[in-house]
Amino acid sequence: MLGKTYHHATKHSYQSVQIDPNYVDPSTQPSSVKVYPKFYRRWQLNRQDPIHNFIWLTSAITLEKTYKDVTYQLRVNPSAGALYPTEIYVQMRGIKGIIDGIYHLEIENNCLTLIYELIDDGLENYVTPGKCINGFIFLVSCVYYRSSWKYKNRSLRYCLLDSGHHLGAIAASAYLHDRNTQLIFDFDKLTLNQDLGFENKEFVTGCVISGEAEEKQVRRLRLPIPFVNGTDYFQANSFIEEAYQATSGQISRQQKLADPQFNWQQTQFFESVWYRRSQRRLYKQPISQETYWRIFEDVKQPIPSEHFEEIEIFSVVHRVEGMLPGIYQGRNLIQAGEFSNQTGYLCINQSIAKDCAVTLFFVSDYLSYQTAMQIAGLMGHRVYLVSNYWGIDCSGIGAFYDDEAQAFLGTKKDVLYAMAIGK
Ligand SMILES: Cc1cc2nc3c(=O)[nH]c(=O)nc-3n(C[C@H](O)[C@H](O)[C@H](O)COP(=O)(O)O)c2cc1C
Repeated sequence: MLGKTYHHATKHSYQSVQIDPNYVDPSTQPSSVKVYPKFYRRWQLNRQDPIHNFIWLTSAITLEKTYKDVTYQLRVNPSAGALYPTEIYVQMRGIKGIIDGIYHLEIENNCLTLIYELIDDGLENYVTPGKCINGFIFLVSCVYYRSSWKYKNRSLRYCLLDSGHHLGAIAASAYLHDRNTQLIFDFDKLTLNQDLGFENKEFVTGCVISGEAEEKQVRRLRLPIPFVNGTDYFQANSFIEEAYQATSGQISRQQKLADPQFNWQQTQFFESVWYRRSQRRLYKQPISQETYWRIFEDVKQPIPSEHFEEIEIFSVVHRVEGMLPGIYQGRNLIQAGEFSNQTGYLCINQSIAKDCAVTLFFVSDYLSYQTAMQIAGLMGHRVYLVSNYWGIDCSGIGAFYDDEAQAFLGTKKDVLYAMAIGK
């Protein structure tokens, strides 16, 4: 099956949501913490150290919230249903005072666990063959059962969108620490999963390189890494496993590498990263046209990657000062009208999609499903950060009626993700 087939197999419709409304017993939620055995060496992250701070801010817990007796630890990155399937690994090479190795970031305990020491081998062999990176290689992976526990097959989408958000969080921390980034989507993920000891329960999705590249062969990891489960119990989902395997080898479109040129003020941008939240309720307030276009322009800035999928943005404008309400394809109005009730309905009757100023839909005609979904998530992360930067609220929306949304927008491309921005 092609990537599109897997997306289509996880569509929501009015009927499918009625039949399976995704109710789960919260007491059965699998743990969202991966902890390597205690014999591994660990270092507590010290926020005074800029290297530690760079890594910490990619994934930091920024708020604890209790809802119906369950405490949620909310983070710099959003996650569908706050289930956080993503894990972060970072390889560091040639950094003063740090052993060259692959580290797992233990988000809950704020520490780095050294799971592999490098000699002439390393992650470069898989992600950027022929090069040696002095600096950082971040890997984002998904412990998919954390999400499939609730969202079943549709969690395929959420794992990939969440990964894209996590890549966006890494990019934001890099911006704040003046570090370059290059995203890598096409690489030998299956061999890497095997060598990282992930079995069928965790899979690598994306990669960020930050550092200096040198022409040099780096060997494949010389030793196996033991399997450690990222949940306390596990139930396999054969659809997710098959979909991941089948879409891992899809080659993305190629583009020339270009860096985004953001002009954010550091302190204010740090606050956006730190206080970023998904808004649960919006109050039908208009936003200014200037702010809307600023958000739009920053979201459309280049994605620093040679691997690429074009994501087109449809904006359904409800309340932007001086703009005619209606459906916009990019900057062009394609149908004037007041559509807030329709977007509320299309997003499974979620009031944020009705009461917002603009409902955004990200659509694409892609070659690589994994790349397209992660770029949609990454752009979604920009929407959050830039909206919050300009004092506008926002939420990602993964739940929508696929076919009806497509028909409403008048597109044949797949709808990958929706977002609401407003006040
Ligand atoms: C891929 C994705 C899909 C989401 N879908 C929805 C949604 O359909 N409705 C909603 O209210 N929130 C949605 N959210 C927001 C999450 O519920 C939210 O990120 C999570 O509860 C953590 O809260 P925070 O973003 O404030 O840190 C989504 C987030 C992501 C990343």
